[in-house]
Amino acid sequence: MAAKRYPLARVPQLLFGPRRDPIGWLEALAREGDLVKIQFPSAPVYYAFHPEIIRECLVTQQSSFQKGRGIQRLRLILGESALTVEGEKHVERRRSLQPLFRQERLNDYAHVIIERAYETTSCWRDAETIDIANEMTRLTIAIASQVFLGLRLNADEIASVSIALSQVVDMFGVLMLPWGDNFLRLPLPSVKRFFAARDTLRSLARRAHSHLYTDIGDGNDNGEFAIDELVTLLIAGHETTALMLTWAIYLLAQHPAVLEKARCHIERQQTLEQSPSETLARVPFLRAILAETLRLYPPVWGIGRRANAQVIFDGEIIPEGAFVTLSPWITHRDARFYPAPVSFCPERWENRNPSTYAYIPFGGGARRCIGENFAWMEGELILATLLPRWNFKLVSSPPDVKPGFTLRPRSPILVRVTQRSK
Ligand code: HEM
Repeated sequence: MAAKRYPLARVPQLLFGPRRDPIGWLEALAREGDLVKIQFPSAPVYYAFHPEIIRECLVTQQSSFQKGRGIQRLRLILGESALTVEGEKHVERRRSLQPLFRQERLNDYAHVIIERAYETTSCWRDAETIDIANEMTRLTIAIASQVFLGLRLNADEIASVSIALSQVVDMFGVLMLPWGDNFLRLPLPSVKRFFAARDTLRSLARRAHSHLYTDIGDGNDNGEFAIDELVTLLIAGHETTALMLTWAIYLLAQHPAVLEKARCHIERQQTLEQSPSETLARVPFLRAILAETLRLYPPVWGIGRRANAQVIFDGEIIPEGAFVTLSPWITHRDARFYPAPVSFCPERWENRNPSTYAYIPFGGGARRCIGENFAWMEGELILATLLPRWNFKLVSSPPDVKPGFTLRPRSPILVRVTQRSK
Protein backbone atom coordinates (compact mmCIF):
# COMPACT_ATOMS: atom_id res chain seq x y z
CA MET A 1 0.00 0.00 0.00
CA ALA A 2 2.22 2.84 -1.24
CA ALA A 3 1.57 6.24 0.31
CA LYS A 4 -0.18 8.72 -1.92
CA ARG A 5 1.70 12.03 -2.03
CA TYR A 6 -0.37 15.09 -1.28
CA PRO A 7 -0.63 17.06 -4.57
CA LEU A 8 1.52 20.20 -4.40
CA ALA A 9 -1.00 22.09 -6.53
CA ARG A 10 -3.16 22.23 -3.41
CA VAL A 11 -0.64 24.07 -1.25
CA PRO A 12 -3.04 26.91 -0.30
CA GLN A 13 -5.45 24.32 1.08
CA LEU A 14 -2.52 22.80 2.95
CA LEU A 15 -1.71 26.13 4.59
CA PHE A 16 -5.19 26.87 5.87
CA GLY A 17 -7.24 23.64 5.74
CA PRO A 18 -5.89 21.89 8.84
CA ARG A 19 -6.56 24.89 11.10
CA ARG A 20 -9.81 26.20 9.64
CA ASP A 21 -11.63 22.90 9.25
CA PRO A 22 -9.59 19.98 10.60
CA ILE A 23 -12.30 17.39 10.02
CA GLY A 24 -13.05 18.55 6.44
CA TRP A 25 -9.31 18.52 5.86
CA LEU A 26 -8.96 14.90 7.07
CA GLU A 27 -11.96 13.88 4.95
CA ALA A 28 -10.32 15.42 1.89
CA LEU A 29 -7.10 13.54 2.63
CA ALA A 30 -8.95 10.25 3.12
CA ARG A 31 -10.39 10.63 -0.39
CA GLU A 32 -6.78 10.53 -1.67
CA GLY A 33 -6.06 7.11 -0.17
CA ASP A 34 -5.52 4.95 2.93
CA LEU A 35 -2.02 6.31 3.56
CA VAL A 36 -1.29 9.88 2.50
CA LYS A 37 2.06 11.61 2.86
CA ILE A 38 2.67 15.32 3.17
CA GLN A 39 6.29 16.43 3.02
CA PHE A 40 6.58 19.38 5.38
CA PRO A 41 9.97 21.18 5.49
CA SER A 42 10.69 19.87 9.01
CA ALA A 43 9.47 16.26 8.65
CA PRO A 44 7.05 14.15 6.63
CA VAL A 45 3.59 13.56 8.06
CA TYR A 46 1.67 10.40 7.16
CA TYR A 47 -2.10 10.21 7.55
CA ALA A 48 -3.08 6.56 8.03
CA PHE A 49 -6.75 5.58 7.74
CA HIS A 50 -6.78 1.83 7.06
CA PRO A 51 -7.21 -0.60 10.02
CA GLU A 52 -4.21 -2.66 8.91
CA ILE A 53 -1.87 0.36 9.01
CA ILE A 54 -3.46 1.45 12.30
CA ARG A 55 -2.67 -1.97 13.75
CA GLU A 56 0.95 -1.68 12.53
CA CYS A 57 1.32 1.72 14.18
CA LEU A 58 -0.45 1.06 17.49
CA VAL A 59 0.43 -2.59 18.03
CA THR A 60 2.74 -4.53 15.73
CA GLN A 61 5.45 -1.86 15.45
CA GLN A 62 4.52 0.18 18.53
CA SER A 63 8.04 0.06 19.97
CA SER A 64 9.24 2.17 17.02
CA PHE A 65 6.84 4.97 17.91
CA GLN A 66 6.39 7.49 20.65
CA LYS A 67 3.55 9.91 21.24
CA GLY A 68 3.24 12.85 18.88
CA ARG A 69 4.26 16.44 19.49
CA GLY A 70 0.92 17.44 21.04
CA ILE A 71 1.07 14.92 23.88
CA GLN A 72 4.79 15.65 24.44
CA ARG A 73 3.91 19.28 24.97
CA LEU A 74 1.20 18.32 27.44
CA ARG A 75 4.05 17.68 29.88
CA LEU A 76 4.13 21.43 30.37
CA ILE A 77 0.67 21.08 31.86
CA LEU A 78 0.39 17.54 33.17
CA GLY A 79 3.99 16.95 34.18
CA GLU A 80 5.13 13.34 34.10
CA SER A 81 2.11 11.10 34.03
CA ALA A 82 1.21 7.81 32.35
CA LEU A 83 -0.28 9.86 29.50
CA THR A 84 2.88 11.82 28.73
CA VAL A 85 5.96 9.71 29.57
CA GLU A 86 7.67 7.11 27.35
CA GLY A 87 9.57 3.81 27.57
CA GLU A 88 10.39 2.20 30.92
CA LYS A 89 8.97 5.14 32.82
CA HIS A 90 5.66 4.65 31.05
CA VAL A 91 5.58 0.95 31.97
CA GLU A 92 6.21 1.91 35.64
CA ARG A 93 3.67 4.73 35.74
CA ARG A 94 1.02 2.61 34.07
CA ARG A 95 1.66 -0.30 36.44
CA SER A 96 1.25 2.00 39.42
CA LEU A 97 -2.17 3.14 38.15
CA GLN A 98 -3.52 -0.37 37.55
CA PRO A 99 -4.85 -0.87 41.13
CA LEU A 100 -7.27 2.02 40.60
CA PHE A 101 -8.92 0.13 37.74
CA ARG A 102 -9.17 -3.39 39.22
CA GLN A 103 -12.59 -5.05 39.15
CA GLU A 104 -13.10 -4.74 42.96
CA ARG A 105 -12.47 -1.00 42.72
CA LEU A 106 -14.82 -0.67 39.74
CA ASN A 107 -17.56 -2.32 41.80
CA ASP A 108 -17.08 0.29 44.54
CA TYR A 109 -17.10 3.11 41.97
CA ALA A 110 -20.42 1.85 40.55
CA HIS A 111 -22.30 2.93 43.68
CA VAL A 112 -20.72 6.38 43.59
CA ILE A 113 -21.69 6.78 39.92
CA ILE A 114 -25.34 5.90 40.54
CA GLU A 115 -25.55 8.15 43.60
CA ARG A 116 -24.01 11.14 41.81
CA ALA A 117 -26.26 10.58 38.76
CA TYR A 118 -29.36 10.74 41.00
CA GLU A 119 -27.99 13.83 42.73
CA THR A 120 -27.40 15.66 39.41
CA THR A 121 -30.85 14.86 38.07
CA SER A 122 -32.53 15.76 41.36
CA CYS A 123 -31.73 19.40 40.43
CA TRP A 124 -33.63 19.09 37.13
CA ARG A 125 -37.17 20.47 37.05
CA ASP A 126 -39.89 18.92 34.92
CA ALA A 127 -40.01 20.52 31.42
CA GLU A 128 -36.84 22.50 32.09
CA THR A 129 -34.37 23.12 29.24
CA ILE A 130 -30.81 22.10 30.06
CA ASP A 131 -27.46 22.32 28.33
CA ILE A 132 -26.69 18.62 28.28
CA ALA A 133 -22.89 19.03 27.89
CA ASN A 134 -22.75 21.23 31.02
CA GLU A 135 -24.81 18.76 33.02
CA MET A 136 -22.73 15.77 31.96
CA THR A 137 -19.52 17.68 32.67
CA ARG A 138 -20.64 18.55 36.21
CA LEU A 139 -21.63 14.94 36.76
CA THR A 140 -18.41 13.38 35.49
CA ILE A 141 -16.32 15.88 37.50
CA ALA A 142 -18.24 14.94 40.65
CA ILE A 143 -17.65 11.25 39.93
CA ALA A 144 -13.96 11.53 38.96
CA SER A 145 -13.15 13.67 42.03
CA GLN A 146 -14.84 11.23 44.35
CA VAL A 147 -13.46 7.97 42.93
CA PHE A 148 -9.95 9.10 41.99
CA LEU A 149 -9.29 11.83 44.57
CA GLY A 150 -11.56 10.62 47.35
CA LEU A 151 -13.18 14.10 47.49
CA ARG A 152 -16.92 14.58 47.62
CA LEU A 153 -17.24 18.07 46.16
CA ASN A 154 -20.25 20.31 46.70
CA ALA A 155 -21.99 22.17 43.86
CA ASP A 156 -19.88 25.34 44.27
CA GLU A 157 -16.64 23.37 44.31
CA ILE A 158 -17.72 21.44 41.20
CA ALA A 159 -18.47 24.73 39.44
CA SER A 160 -15.04 26.17 40.23
CA VAL A 161 -13.21 22.93 39.32
CA SER A 162 -15.19 22.87 36.08
CA ILE A 163 -13.99 26.40 35.21
CA ALA A 164 -10.38 25.48 36.06
CA LEU A 165 -10.57 22.30 34.01
CA SER A 166 -11.96 24.06 30.97
CA GLN A 167 -9.27 26.76 31.19
CA VAL A 168 -6.59 24.07 31.30
CA VAL A 169 -8.14 21.97 28.52
CA ASP A 170 -8.57 25.06 26.31
CA MET A 171 -4.83 25.65 26.62
CA PHE A 172 -4.20 22.16 25.17
CA GLY A 173 -5.55 23.47 21.85
CA VAL A 174 -3.05 26.36 21.92
CA LEU A 175 -0.20 23.98 22.74
CA MET A 176 -0.97 21.93 19.62
CA LEU A 177 -0.29 24.93 17.36
CA PRO A 178 3.17 25.37 15.82
CA TRP A 179 5.32 27.14 18.46
CA GLY A 180 2.36 26.79 20.85
CA ASP A 181 4.73 25.95 23.73
CA ASN A 182 6.25 29.45 23.48
CA PHE A 183 2.82 30.95 24.08
CA LEU A 184 3.01 29.91 27.74
CA ARG A 185 5.98 32.28 28.20
CA LEU A 186 4.00 35.37 27.16
CA PRO A 187 2.80 37.72 29.94
CA LEU A 188 -0.82 37.56 28.80
CA PRO A 189 -3.90 37.52 31.06
CA SER A 190 -5.04 34.24 29.47
CA VAL A 191 -1.68 32.62 30.31
CA LYS A 192 -1.91 33.88 33.91
CA ARG A 193 -5.44 32.50 34.17
CA PHE A 194 -4.22 29.18 32.83
CA PHE A 195 -1.44 28.90 35.45
CA ALA A 196 -3.89 29.85 38.20
CA ALA A 197 -6.28 27.15 36.96
CA ARG A 198 -3.48 24.59 36.88
CA ASP A 199 -2.58 25.49 40.48
CA THR A 200 -6.24 25.08 41.51
CA LEU A 201 -6.24 21.54 40.11
CA ARG A 202 -2.91 20.68 41.74
CA SER A 203 -4.14 21.94 45.13
CA LEU A 204 -7.25 19.83 44.71
CA ALA A 205 -5.09 16.77 44.00
CA ARG A 206 -3.06 17.54 47.16
CA ARG A 207 -6.26 17.28 49.20
CA ALA A 208 -6.80 13.78 47.80
CA HIS A 209 -7.12 10.93 50.18
CA SER A 210 -3.72 9.67 51.32
CA HIS A 211 -4.37 6.06 50.25
CA LEU A 212 -4.12 7.26 46.65
CA TYR A 213 -0.59 8.52 47.27
CA THR A 214 0.37 5.13 48.64
CA ASP A 215 -1.19 3.43 45.63
CA ILE A 216 0.36 5.51 42.91
CA GLY A 217 3.23 7.58 44.34
CA ASP A 218 6.68 6.04 43.98
CA GLY A 219 7.47 6.46 47.66
CA ASN A 220 10.37 8.92 47.42
CA ASP A 221 9.07 11.86 45.47
CA ASN A 222 6.94 13.69 48.07
CA GLY A 223 3.86 12.73 46.13
CA GLU A 224 4.64 14.93 43.10
CA PHE A 225 4.28 11.97 40.73
CA ALA A 226 0.99 11.17 42.36
CA ILE A 227 -0.18 14.75 41.87
CA ASP A 228 0.67 14.66 38.16
CA GLU A 229 -1.22 11.38 37.83
CA LEU A 230 -4.25 12.55 39.78
CA VAL A 231 -4.58 15.75 37.74
CA THR A 232 -4.25 13.63 34.58
CA LEU A 233 -6.97 11.24 35.76
CA LEU A 234 -9.25 14.14 36.55
CA ILE A 235 -8.72 15.72 33.11
CA ALA A 236 -8.63 12.51 31.01
CA GLY A 237 -11.38 10.93 33.09
CA HIS A 238 -14.07 13.60 32.96
CA GLU A 239 -14.03 15.39 29.58
CA THR A 240 -14.07 12.28 27.37
CA THR A 241 -16.84 10.52 29.29
CA ALA A 242 -18.90 13.73 29.54
CA LEU A 243 -18.69 14.03 25.74
CA MET A 244 -19.61 10.39 25.20
CA LEU A 245 -22.76 10.91 27.30
CA THR A 246 -23.55 14.27 25.71
CA TRP A 247 -23.45 12.82 22.19
CA ALA A 248 -25.33 9.68 23.34
CA ILE A 249 -28.24 11.72 24.74
CA TYR A 250 -28.20 13.95 21.66
CA LEU A 251 -28.52 10.86 19.44
CA LEU A 252 -31.13 9.17 21.64
CA ALA A 253 -33.27 12.32 21.65
CA GLN A 254 -33.48 11.97 17.88
CA HIS A 255 -34.04 8.19 17.79
CA PRO A 256 -37.11 7.44 19.95
CA ALA A 257 -37.26 3.79 18.87
CA VAL A 258 -33.73 3.17 20.16
CA LEU A 259 -34.55 5.02 23.37
CA GLU A 260 -37.69 2.91 23.90
CA LYS A 261 -35.80 -0.32 23.28
CA ALA A 262 -33.14 0.68 25.83
CA ARG A 263 -35.85 1.51 28.39
CA CYS A 264 -37.58 -1.85 27.90
CA HIS A 265 -34.29 -3.64 28.54
CA ILE A 266 -33.49 -1.56 31.64
CA GLU A 267 -36.98 -1.70 33.15
CA ARG A 268 -36.92 -5.49 33.15
CA GLN A 269 -34.05 -5.26 35.66
CA GLN A 270 -34.92 -4.33 39.23
CA THR A 271 -31.50 -4.59 40.82
CA LEU A 272 -29.45 -1.65 39.55
CA GLU A 273 -28.73 -0.16 42.98
CA GLN A 274 -28.06 -3.50 44.72
CA SER A 275 -25.83 -5.16 42.11
CA PRO A 276 -24.90 -2.70 39.36
CA SER A 277 -22.37 -4.89 37.51
CA GLU A 278 -24.71 -7.89 37.25
CA THR A 279 -27.52 -5.63 36.04
CA LEU A 280 -25.36 -4.09 33.35
CA ALA A 281 -24.23 -7.52 32.19
CA ARG A 282 -27.91 -8.25 31.49
CA VAL A 283 -28.45 -5.05 29.46
CA PRO A 284 -25.84 -5.24 26.67
CA PHE A 285 -27.89 -2.83 24.56
CA LEU A 286 -26.60 0.09 26.67
CA ARG A 287 -23.05 -0.82 25.67
CA ALA A 288 -24.18 -1.00 22.03
CA ILE A 289 -25.63 2.54 22.27
CA LEU A 290 -22.37 3.88 23.68
CA ALA A 291 -20.25 1.92 21.18
CA GLU A 292 -22.23 3.43 18.33
CA THR A 293 -21.97 6.90 19.87
CA LEU A 294 -18.18 6.59 20.16
CA ARG A 295 -18.06 5.38 16.57
CA LEU A 296 -19.88 8.44 15.26
CA TYR A 297 -18.50 10.99 17.73
CA PRO A 298 -15.15 9.75 19.05
CA PRO A 299 -14.10 12.26 21.75
CA VAL A 300 -10.45 11.60 20.78
CA TRP A 301 -10.81 12.20 17.05
CA GLY A 302 -7.07 12.17 16.19
CA ILE A 303 -4.16 10.15 17.57
CA GLY A 304 -0.57 11.21 16.84
CA ARG A 305 2.71 9.33 16.84
CA ARG A 306 6.34 10.09 15.94
CA ALA A 307 8.61 7.36 14.53
CA ASN A 308 11.73 6.94 16.66
CA ALA A 309 13.14 4.43 14.15
CA GLN A 310 12.55 3.70 10.50
CA VAL A 311 9.48 1.50 9.99
CA ILE A 312 7.83 -0.06 6.97
CA PHE A 313 4.07 0.01 6.47
CA ASP A 314 3.20 -2.54 3.81
CA GLY A 315 6.24 -1.69 1.66
CA GLU A 316 6.20 2.07 2.36
CA ILE A 317 9.28 3.30 4.25
CA ILE A 318 8.38 5.66 7.10
CA PRO A 319 11.64 7.39 8.07
CA GLU A 320 12.77 8.05 11.63
CA GLY A 321 11.40 11.40 12.78
CA ALA A 322 8.25 11.18 10.60
CA PHE A 323 4.87 11.89 12.19
CA VAL A 324 1.87 9.59 11.79
CA THR A 325 -1.69 10.76 12.35
CA LEU A 326 -4.59 8.32 12.83
CA SER A 327 -8.17 9.46 12.91
CA PRO A 328 -10.96 7.55 14.64
CA TRP A 329 -13.42 10.01 13.03
CA ILE A 330 -12.39 8.99 9.49
CA THR A 331 -11.91 5.25 10.03
CA HIS A 332 -15.14 4.92 12.03
CA ARG A 333 -17.12 6.48 9.17
CA ASP A 334 -15.60 4.37 6.38
CA ALA A 335 -18.35 2.54 4.44
CA ARG A 336 -15.99 -0.39 3.77
CA PHE A 337 -16.12 -1.28 7.47
CA TYR A 338 -19.51 0.14 8.48
CA PRO A 339 -22.49 -0.13 6.12
CA ALA A 340 -24.62 3.05 6.22
CA PRO A 341 -21.72 4.70 8.05
CA VAL A 342 -23.43 7.92 9.13
CA SER A 343 -26.57 6.24 10.49
CA PHE A 344 -26.96 5.82 14.23
CA CYS A 345 -27.59 2.10 14.51
CA PRO A 346 -26.63 0.52 17.88
CA GLU A 347 -27.95 -2.83 16.62
CA ARG A 348 -24.83 -3.16 14.49
CA TRP A 349 -22.92 -3.90 17.73
CA GLU A 350 -25.29 -6.51 19.10
CA ASN A 351 -23.57 -9.48 17.52
CA ARG A 352 -20.20 -7.99 16.93
CA ASN A 353 -17.14 -7.68 19.09
CA PRO A 354 -15.64 -4.26 18.43
CA SER A 355 -12.08 -5.49 18.45
CA THR A 356 -10.72 -4.73 15.00
CA TYR A 357 -8.63 -1.68 14.29
CA ALA A 358 -11.52 -0.19 12.38
CA TYR A 359 -12.75 0.81 15.85
CA ILE A 360 -10.26 2.81 17.91
CA PRO A 361 -12.08 5.24 20.25
CA PHE A 362 -9.72 4.12 23.04
CA GLY A 363 -6.57 3.80 20.88
CA GLY A 364 -4.68 0.50 21.02
CA GLY A 365 -1.53 -1.36 22.03
CA ALA A 366 0.50 -0.47 25.13
CA ARG A 367 -0.92 3.07 25.15
CA ARG A 368 -4.55 2.00 24.97
CA CYS A 369 -6.74 4.00 27.32
CA ILE A 370 -6.31 2.77 30.89
CA GLY A 371 -9.74 4.13 31.84
CA GLU A 372 -11.68 2.25 29.15
CA ASN A 373 -13.51 -0.22 31.42
CA PHE A 374 -14.31 2.53 33.87
CA ALA A 375 -15.66 4.71 31.03
CA TRP A 376 -17.95 1.96 29.70
CA MET A 377 -19.28 1.28 33.18
CA GLU A 378 -19.77 4.95 34.00
CA GLY A 379 -21.60 5.59 30.72
CA GLU A 380 -23.84 2.53 31.04
CA LEU A 381 -24.76 3.24 34.67
CA ILE A 382 -25.59 6.87 33.95
CA LEU A 383 -27.83 5.89 31.03
CA ALA A 384 -29.46 3.16 33.14
CA THR A 385 -30.23 5.77 35.82
CA LEU A 386 -31.44 8.55 33.50
CA LEU A 387 -33.39 6.85 30.71
CA PRO A 388 -36.21 5.24 32.75
CA ARG A 389 -36.92 8.54 34.56
CA TRP A 390 -36.55 11.23 31.94
CA ASN A 391 -37.63 12.09 28.41
CA PHE A 392 -35.27 14.16 26.28
CA LYS A 393 -36.40 16.50 23.52
CA LEU A 394 -33.82 18.32 21.46
CA VAL A 395 -34.78 22.02 21.31
CA SER A 396 -31.67 23.47 19.66
CA SER A 397 -30.63 22.83 16.08
CA PRO A 398 -28.15 19.98 15.55
CA PRO A 399 -24.69 21.36 16.32
CA ASP A 400 -21.61 21.15 14.15
CA VAL A 401 -18.68 19.44 15.74
CA LYS A 402 -15.82 21.51 17.15
CA PRO A 403 -12.65 19.48 16.89
CA GLY A 404 -10.22 20.84 19.46
CA PHE A 405 -8.30 18.67 21.87
CA THR A 406 -11.51 16.63 22.02
CA LEU A 407 -14.60 16.55 19.82
CA ARG A 408 -17.06 18.97 21.39
CA PRO A 409 -20.33 20.35 20.02
CA ARG A 410 -19.74 23.80 18.48
CA SER A 411 -22.95 25.21 19.96
CA PRO A 412 -24.85 24.18 23.11
CA ILE A 413 -27.03 21.07 22.83
CA LEU A 414 -30.23 22.20 24.53
CA VAL A 415 -32.57 19.48 25.67
CA ARG A 416 -35.99 19.77 27.32
CA VAL A 417 -36.19 17.16 30.07
CA THR A 418 -39.58 15.89 31.18
CA GLN A 419 -40.18 13.46 33.97
CA ARG A 420 -41.69 10.11 33.03
CA SER A 421 -44.52 8.77 35.12
CA LYS A 422 -43.63 5.40 36.60
C1 HEM B 1 -15.14 7.67 26.60
C2 HEM B 1 -14.13 7.91 27.39
C3 HEM B 1 -12.68 7.88 26.96
C4 HEM B 1 -12.13 7.92 25.72
C5 HEM B 1 -12.84 8.01 24.38
C6 HEM B 1 -10.68 7.85 25.89
C7 HEM B 1 -9.77 7.82 24.85
C8 HEM B 1 -8.41 7.60 25.02
C9 HEM B 1 -7.48 7.37 23.95
C10 HEM B 1 -7.81 7.34 22.46
C11 HEM B 1 -6.25 7.18 24.50
C12 HEM B 1 -4.96 6.85 23.75
C13 HEM B 1 -4.25 8.09 23.25
C14 HEM B 1 -3.03 7.73 22.44
O1 HEM B 1 -2.76 6.59 22.14
O2 HEM B 1 -2.30 8.68 22.10
C15 HEM B 1 -6.41 7.31 25.94
C16 HEM B 1 -5.38 7.21 26.85
C17 HEM B 1 -5.52 7.40 28.20
N1 HEM B 1 -6.72 7.60 28.88
FE1 HEM B 1 -8.56 7.60 28.07
N2 HEM B 1 -10.41 7.80 27.23
C18 HEM B 1 -11.60 7.80 27.92
C19 HEM B 1 -11.77 7.74 29.29
C20 HEM B 1 -10.73 7.75 30.20
C21 HEM B 1 -10.91 7.69 31.63
C22 HEM B 1 -12.25 7.57 32.33
C23 HEM B 1 -9.65 7.77 32.17
C24 HEM B 1 -9.21 7.77 33.60
C25 HEM B 1 -9.96 7.85 34.60
C26 HEM B 1 -8.70 7.85 31.08
C27 HEM B 1 -7.33 7.95 31.24
C28 HEM B 1 -6.42 7.77 30.21
C29 HEM B 1 -4.99 7.68 30.42
C30 HEM B 1 -4.25 7.83 31.76
C31 HEM B 1 -4.42 7.45 29.16
C32 HEM B 1 -2.95 7.25 28.83
C33 HEM B 1 -2.65 5.76 28.78
C34 HEM B 1 -1.21 5.44 28.40
O3 HEM B 1 -0.61 6.16 27.62
O4 HEM B 1 -0.73 4.41 28.90
N3 HEM B 1 -9.40 7.83 29.90
N4 HEM B 1 -7.74 7.56 26.23
